[in-house]
Amino acid sequence: MVDADKFYSELGRSQKPGVLTKVVLAAVELMKQGKKIISMTGGSYDPSSVPYKQIKEIIAGTPTEEWQEILQYGAASGKMELRREISGFMAGHGITADPKGEIIVTSGSQQALDLVSRVFLNPGDVILVGSPTYLAALGAFKQYNPELRSVVVDGDGMSVEALEVELNRIEAEGKWAKLLYVVPSFQNPTGSMLTKERRRRVLELAEEHDFLVLEDNAYGYINFGGEMPTPIKGLDRTGRVMYTSTFSKIVSPGLRIGWLAGSREFIGKIVEAKGKVNICNDGVTQYIAAELFRRGDVEKQIPMITRVYRRKRDLMLEAMETSFPEEAEWKEPKGGLFLWVSLPERVDATEMLTESLNRGVAYVPGSNFFAEPVHNYIRLNYSFPSEPDIVEGIQILGGLLKEKL
Ligand SMILES: Cc1ncc(COP(=O)(O)O)c(C=O)c1O
Repeated sequence: MVDADKFYSELGRSQKPGVLTKVVLAAVELMKQGKKIISMTGGSYDPSSVPYKQIKEIIAGTPTEEWQEILQYGAASGKMELRREISGFMAGHGITADPKGEIIVTSGSQQALDLVSRVFLNPGDVILVGSPTYLAALGAFKQYNPELRSVVVDGDGMSVEALEVELNRIEAEGKWAKLLYVVPSFQNPTGSMLTKERRRRVLELAEEHDFLVLEDNAYGYINFGGEMPTPIKGLDRTGRVMYTSTFSKIVSPGLRIGWLAGSREFIGKIVEAKGKVNICNDGVTQYIAAELFRRGDVEKQIPMITRVYRRKRDLMLEAMETSFPEEAEWKEPKGGLFLWVSLPERVDATEMLTESLNRGVAYVPGSNFFAEPVHNYIRLNYSFPSEPDIVEGIQILGGLLKEKL
């Protein structure tokens, strides 16, 4: 057998199974033994709401000449028709981006996070992230060995006061913060919404302290009824904000369609980097995505799934009110896919997961959403489990929590 370890690059050596993979593998193992596991883990789609009929219609109705184009190699920046549709879609959400040069189609937002890391991060570069923030963004950034600095996230999103304190601290250390990663709308994991005033202040601070902003809007379209502030990218006049979004939460994560919008200069570089990893995105998927936009299916899908998720959120909240112990705390998410639960410090949510799985419920321990050690949070997903499973799963979890507290 080869001594595998000596062959790895630093980046190769750093690759370890993420927490979601571990939870899913543990759940699959238990399911193989015949156990029912209710999954409240990833940000997966409600299985019965997938627009498969529309996708079947699109495929069946595609003329032969189109297929010749669809199945050919394409541009690393993505199919022009799709970029045009994305540009139109973003315009409806407060962002102007030229499909020729200011948008790149990616394989989900995750690829955009990796590409931005690749193109902008040197080892030791200082980047600012929410505390907590999206776990797989931390995973993408960490591959490139930056110095992660945390900024607290409260009910109104990232605290701009804490951001300013951290920026001053970084400067006092003789360092420069290069990039801020932020999920302003229905943040993963907290569900919080960055207020209008805070969005403006983030941009002001970016200009004052000269850093780039990577705005991740995976969830902003799933809004249960409140006012939606303009994206930070929509306020940017100096070309320092890059904006990523995805099909995953509004249409299907299996289609692997995401995108990144930014200045011509930055997108040009990112396109060059992408061509080295992925010559072009899959043509069939891009065609389907462009058609779903063109036919208005995406615009119809959003209110439909928003209704489904709102009902599921309400059901989960109701079940939590009944079953969870008093010491557990949470805020009602006004959109998105997750509920973020704070537990007393003495509870270790990672340790508790084994027992929870044995009782039939999978969740994501909160520790993975922090750059620093924190162990007393859990993230629950309500979009994927069925309504009866939400009720049953919360009862089981509530019972376990009451025993622990
Ligand atoms: C905040 C955030 N960004 C990006 C992603 C990546 O999604 P995808 O690569 O499926 O587009 C997710 C997925 O859960 C997410 O929660």
